[in-house]
Amino acid sequence: MKRIGFLILACIAVLPVSAQRANYNIIPLPKEVKADTTQLFTLTGGMGIVYDNNNAEVTRIAQFMQQWVKETTGISLLLTPADKNAPIKLSIIAPAKKSKKAKQAAPLTDQQKEGYTLEVNKGGIQLSAYEPVGLFHAAQTLRKSLPVKQLTTVELPYVQITDQPRFSYRGVLLDCGRHFFTVEFIKQFLDAMALHGCNQFHWHLTEDQGWRFEVKAFPDLALKGSVREKTVIGPGNMRIYDNIPYGGYYTQDECREVVRYAAERYINVVPEIDMPGHMQSALHVFPNLGCTGGPYPVAPHWGVMREVLCGGNPETLYFLKTVFGELCDVFPSPFIHIGGDECPKERWQKCAKCQAKIKELGLASENIKVDGDGGRGSQDGRSAENKLQTYINHEIEQFLASRGRSLIGWDEILAGGLTENAIVMSWRGTKGGIAAAKQKHRVIMSPNVFAYIDHPQLKDYSKQPQTTDSYQVSCSKIHSFEPVIPEELTEEEQNCILGVQANLWTEHIAYPEHAFYQLLPRLASMSEVQWCSTNQKDFESFKARLPQLEKFYDKLGYIYCHQVE
Ligand code: ACM
Ligand code: ZN
Repeated sequence: MKRIGFLILACIAVLPVSAQRANYNIIPLPKEVKADTTQLFTLTGGMGIVYDNNNAEVTRIAQFMQQWVKETTGISLLLTPADKNAPIKLSIIAPAKKSKKAKQAAPLTDQQKEGYTLEVNKGGIQLSAYEPVGLFHAAQTLRKSLPVKQLTTVELPYVQITDQPRFSYRGVLLDCGRHFFTVEFIKQFLDAMALHGCNQFHWHLTEDQGWRFEVKAFPDLALKGSVREKTVIGPGNMRIYDNIPYGGYYTQDECREVVRYAAERYINVVPEIDMPGHMQSALHVFPNLGCTGGPYPVAPHWGVMREVLCGGNPETLYFLKTVFGELCDVFPSPFIHIGGDECPKERWQKCAKCQAKIKELGLASENIKVDGDGGRGSQDGRSAENKLQTYINHEIEQFLASRGRSLIGWDEILAGGLTENAIVMSWRGTKGGIAAAKQKHRVIMSPNVFAYIDHPQLKDYSKQPQTTDSYQVSCSKIHSFEPVIPEELTEEEQNCILGVQANLWTEHIAYPEHAFYQLLPRLASMSEVQWCSTNQKDFESFKARLPQLEKFYDKLGYIYCHQVE
């Protein structure tokens, strides 16, 4: 059945499609599309959308759909909850029981909850799903299939689309530490994520170069820790500065507004407070939390800083638990990101407090290499200092668990040994993710060579704005990424891979236009890794489908890279 669907889909791709006709060749490609292009349903203004208006979520999705159809085609649909005969229908359906004898249906997987069907036939357009989130994706699929043109009618070929995402975690990181982005911009970013079927916004809120999250117990963190005196300019770390103070932070009310806006688009906000490294902005405010006592400036340049939170000072844990406590108050996310990356240990090796704590805990260095070791600044292997980092992670994991949350950390958290329920975000390649999955830990794959969209997307660096300049991460490179490695992992271990994430670091990205240029169309490419099964992915087909999506980018005013490599 799947194969027939794709055959038909392939046929539509080569047929000349009139400008007024819907085209289901969208991005990310749905799992199954069975279209009959010989029969058409005509959508016109004044048609009604019927939905359950006792369900607030479904009502909102009906409103989104009305707004999207209007924005895309100029056609005005009516919201007619009571009209049983309206041609456009949103329905929540009950999952089927496996057999007649079964008392109830089996519980749905996260992916099934996000699944939907979209049917066009002589009765009109029917969107059905088990959960409102599925209807939201169905409405996005309808939206993306429409011609982007002011019209009075649109012809929709009869179709049956059955779809669900491959992975439950489909993330994008935005680094608001290196550069601050307004709430208004973040809402645009979330809209773009929703257009691509992404569902996890990883909000990187603290950095050496700026603390962006208001903590009511420690007001100076945001007031003083968010401001650096100057910023390095030009490529690399040539240490030429602009001498202009730079700052910005989010109040807790603003963070709640982001959470609300994201939730309406079925996006969870995963906040990150990066510790115990990448903490120089906090050390600026609380120099007593550093091993040397400071003073420490909010970092004016990029790179890995050797000044980190002291691992032996009990006040460090008090500080972290207070900060993560307020973070949990604001963000309902089931997972909280604790960072854990790039924490050099040279201060800890010489610090009396750190070494006393290592002794007290009986942490001995072991000559064990850890998969994923290597990279900027971190100490490799199962050293006593890396074990001290694990001790801190353990304390925070317990604290988060008491608030009903799980911990995510960058793959450096493997070095000192994983805490019991840690989720590993694998960024230094896939090795760390594989090692974690082998230990039956949940994993999010975000390997830099495939997923770091702060890197240039084109081979010719001179054709694009300045970025992190070490290697190209092209659309085709991203599209080729296979996050589940069957040669390395058993089936059970493969199930530990929750999903995939693209990361937009912003050392060199100070403006919204530049951020969107880095994001698009690479997010389109990433969305197929996140949503589509391996056998569906075809880069030539992706390229052929991209111009339709780019019409939406144009309509929505998004800046994007017009060349695809
Ligand atoms: C990272 O890129 N340092 C997670
Ligand atoms: Zn110390």
